[in-house]
Amino acid sequence: MNYEYPSIAQTAEMLKNKLLSLENKADILKAIEFKALYDELKTLPNDEKSAFGAGVNALRTELANLISTESLGERDLALIDVTAPFDVNVDPTKRPRLLPTSQGSVHPLMAELDKVLEIFYKMGFNAVESREIDDDYHMFGSLNFPENHPARDDYDTFMTEQTDKSGKQFIAPAHTSSMQHRILKEYAGQLESGLPIATVIPGRVFRNEDLDARHEHTFYQVEGVYVGQGVTVGNLIATLKTFLQSYYGKELDVKTQPFYFPFTEPSFEFALSCPFCDKQGCNVCSKSGWIELLGCGLIHPNVLREAGIDPMIYTGFAWGFGIDRLVMMKHGIEDIRHFESAKLEFLRQF
Ligand code: DAH
Repeated sequence: MNYEYPSIAQTAEMLKNKLLSLENKADILKAIEFKALYDELKTLPNDEKSAFGAGVNALRTELANLISTESLGERDLALIDVTAPFDVNVDPTKRPRLLPTSQGSVHPLMAELDKVLEIFYKMGFNAVESREIDDDYHMFGSLNFPENHPARDDYDTFMTEQTDKSGKQFIAPAHTSSMQHRILKEYAGQLESGLPIATVIPGRVFRNEDLDARHEHTFYQVEGVYVGQGVTVGNLIATLKTFLQSYYGKELDVKTQPFYFPFTEPSFEFALSCPFCDKQGCNVCSKSGWIELLGCGLIHPNVLREAGIDPMIYTGFAWGFGIDRLVMMKHGIEDIRHFESAKLEFLRQF
């Protein structure tokens, strides 16, 4: 660009050189050299002022265009796709080939989860997915686990180095119960109009486990929460029995035995008669005729109160079971680690 006034032309040369060495290119528009030009403008006769001013503005525009083309140049660089399962810079012929999705299949856990949810929908439950990172309050505090209580040890899981506002580490939840408080709080308002809270919560959970055929660091649970007026243990047992009979498509016996969870009172371990041998004893039930499947109980008054629900008026039950276990039993899968292995020999069987 040619500038009519020699001082503007000189400044233009200077600033373009300066631009090359600037780290933050936009700073050029605030360069001190502009001040000298504005000072000169003031000394000019009135009839020259507008032509000179237009020249200075043209210089600003030229510089602004240079900056934006330069940053455009940066944006033109090939983006790195951080989700790609290979280095995107390698020669295309050397990249791993991806299978077309038409050759894939739904993971057995997800296929089975759909069936589980379908049954609960028919029973009047809605579903809310749990989250894969949570905080101490939802994992423990809101569920009536006192600070430093040994019951917390049963839920040893992974934590981030980063902390929340109260200085506590974030937690990869060890159970879907970490969603209970949110559900109770969100739906508490509908209790007054006579509508119960009836929600199931599927989710991925994590534990610090010694891995073996029955223990995985990552697995899946379905939590259930039901609250209304006059809800009893009888309702709890009937609900779970109805679900299990529908899932296995046959009549089953169920039994409970006392257990301890901080968030339920009373608490139970819940077992069903083995759907494969009808209590005769087989490999699936380790010859006992029964399969212990889940933890459950009546929601502790402290948990209801924490969510703003009056335990003198409303009661409720909750449960949590692992889907991995259900699916292993159904398909005769002998090792829980197959699920997260991503092995095609395993997945292709479903
Ligand atoms: N969260 C428990 C676990 O993973 C299972 C459980 C027990 C869930 C009792 C509940 C409950 O909602 O009421 O071991």
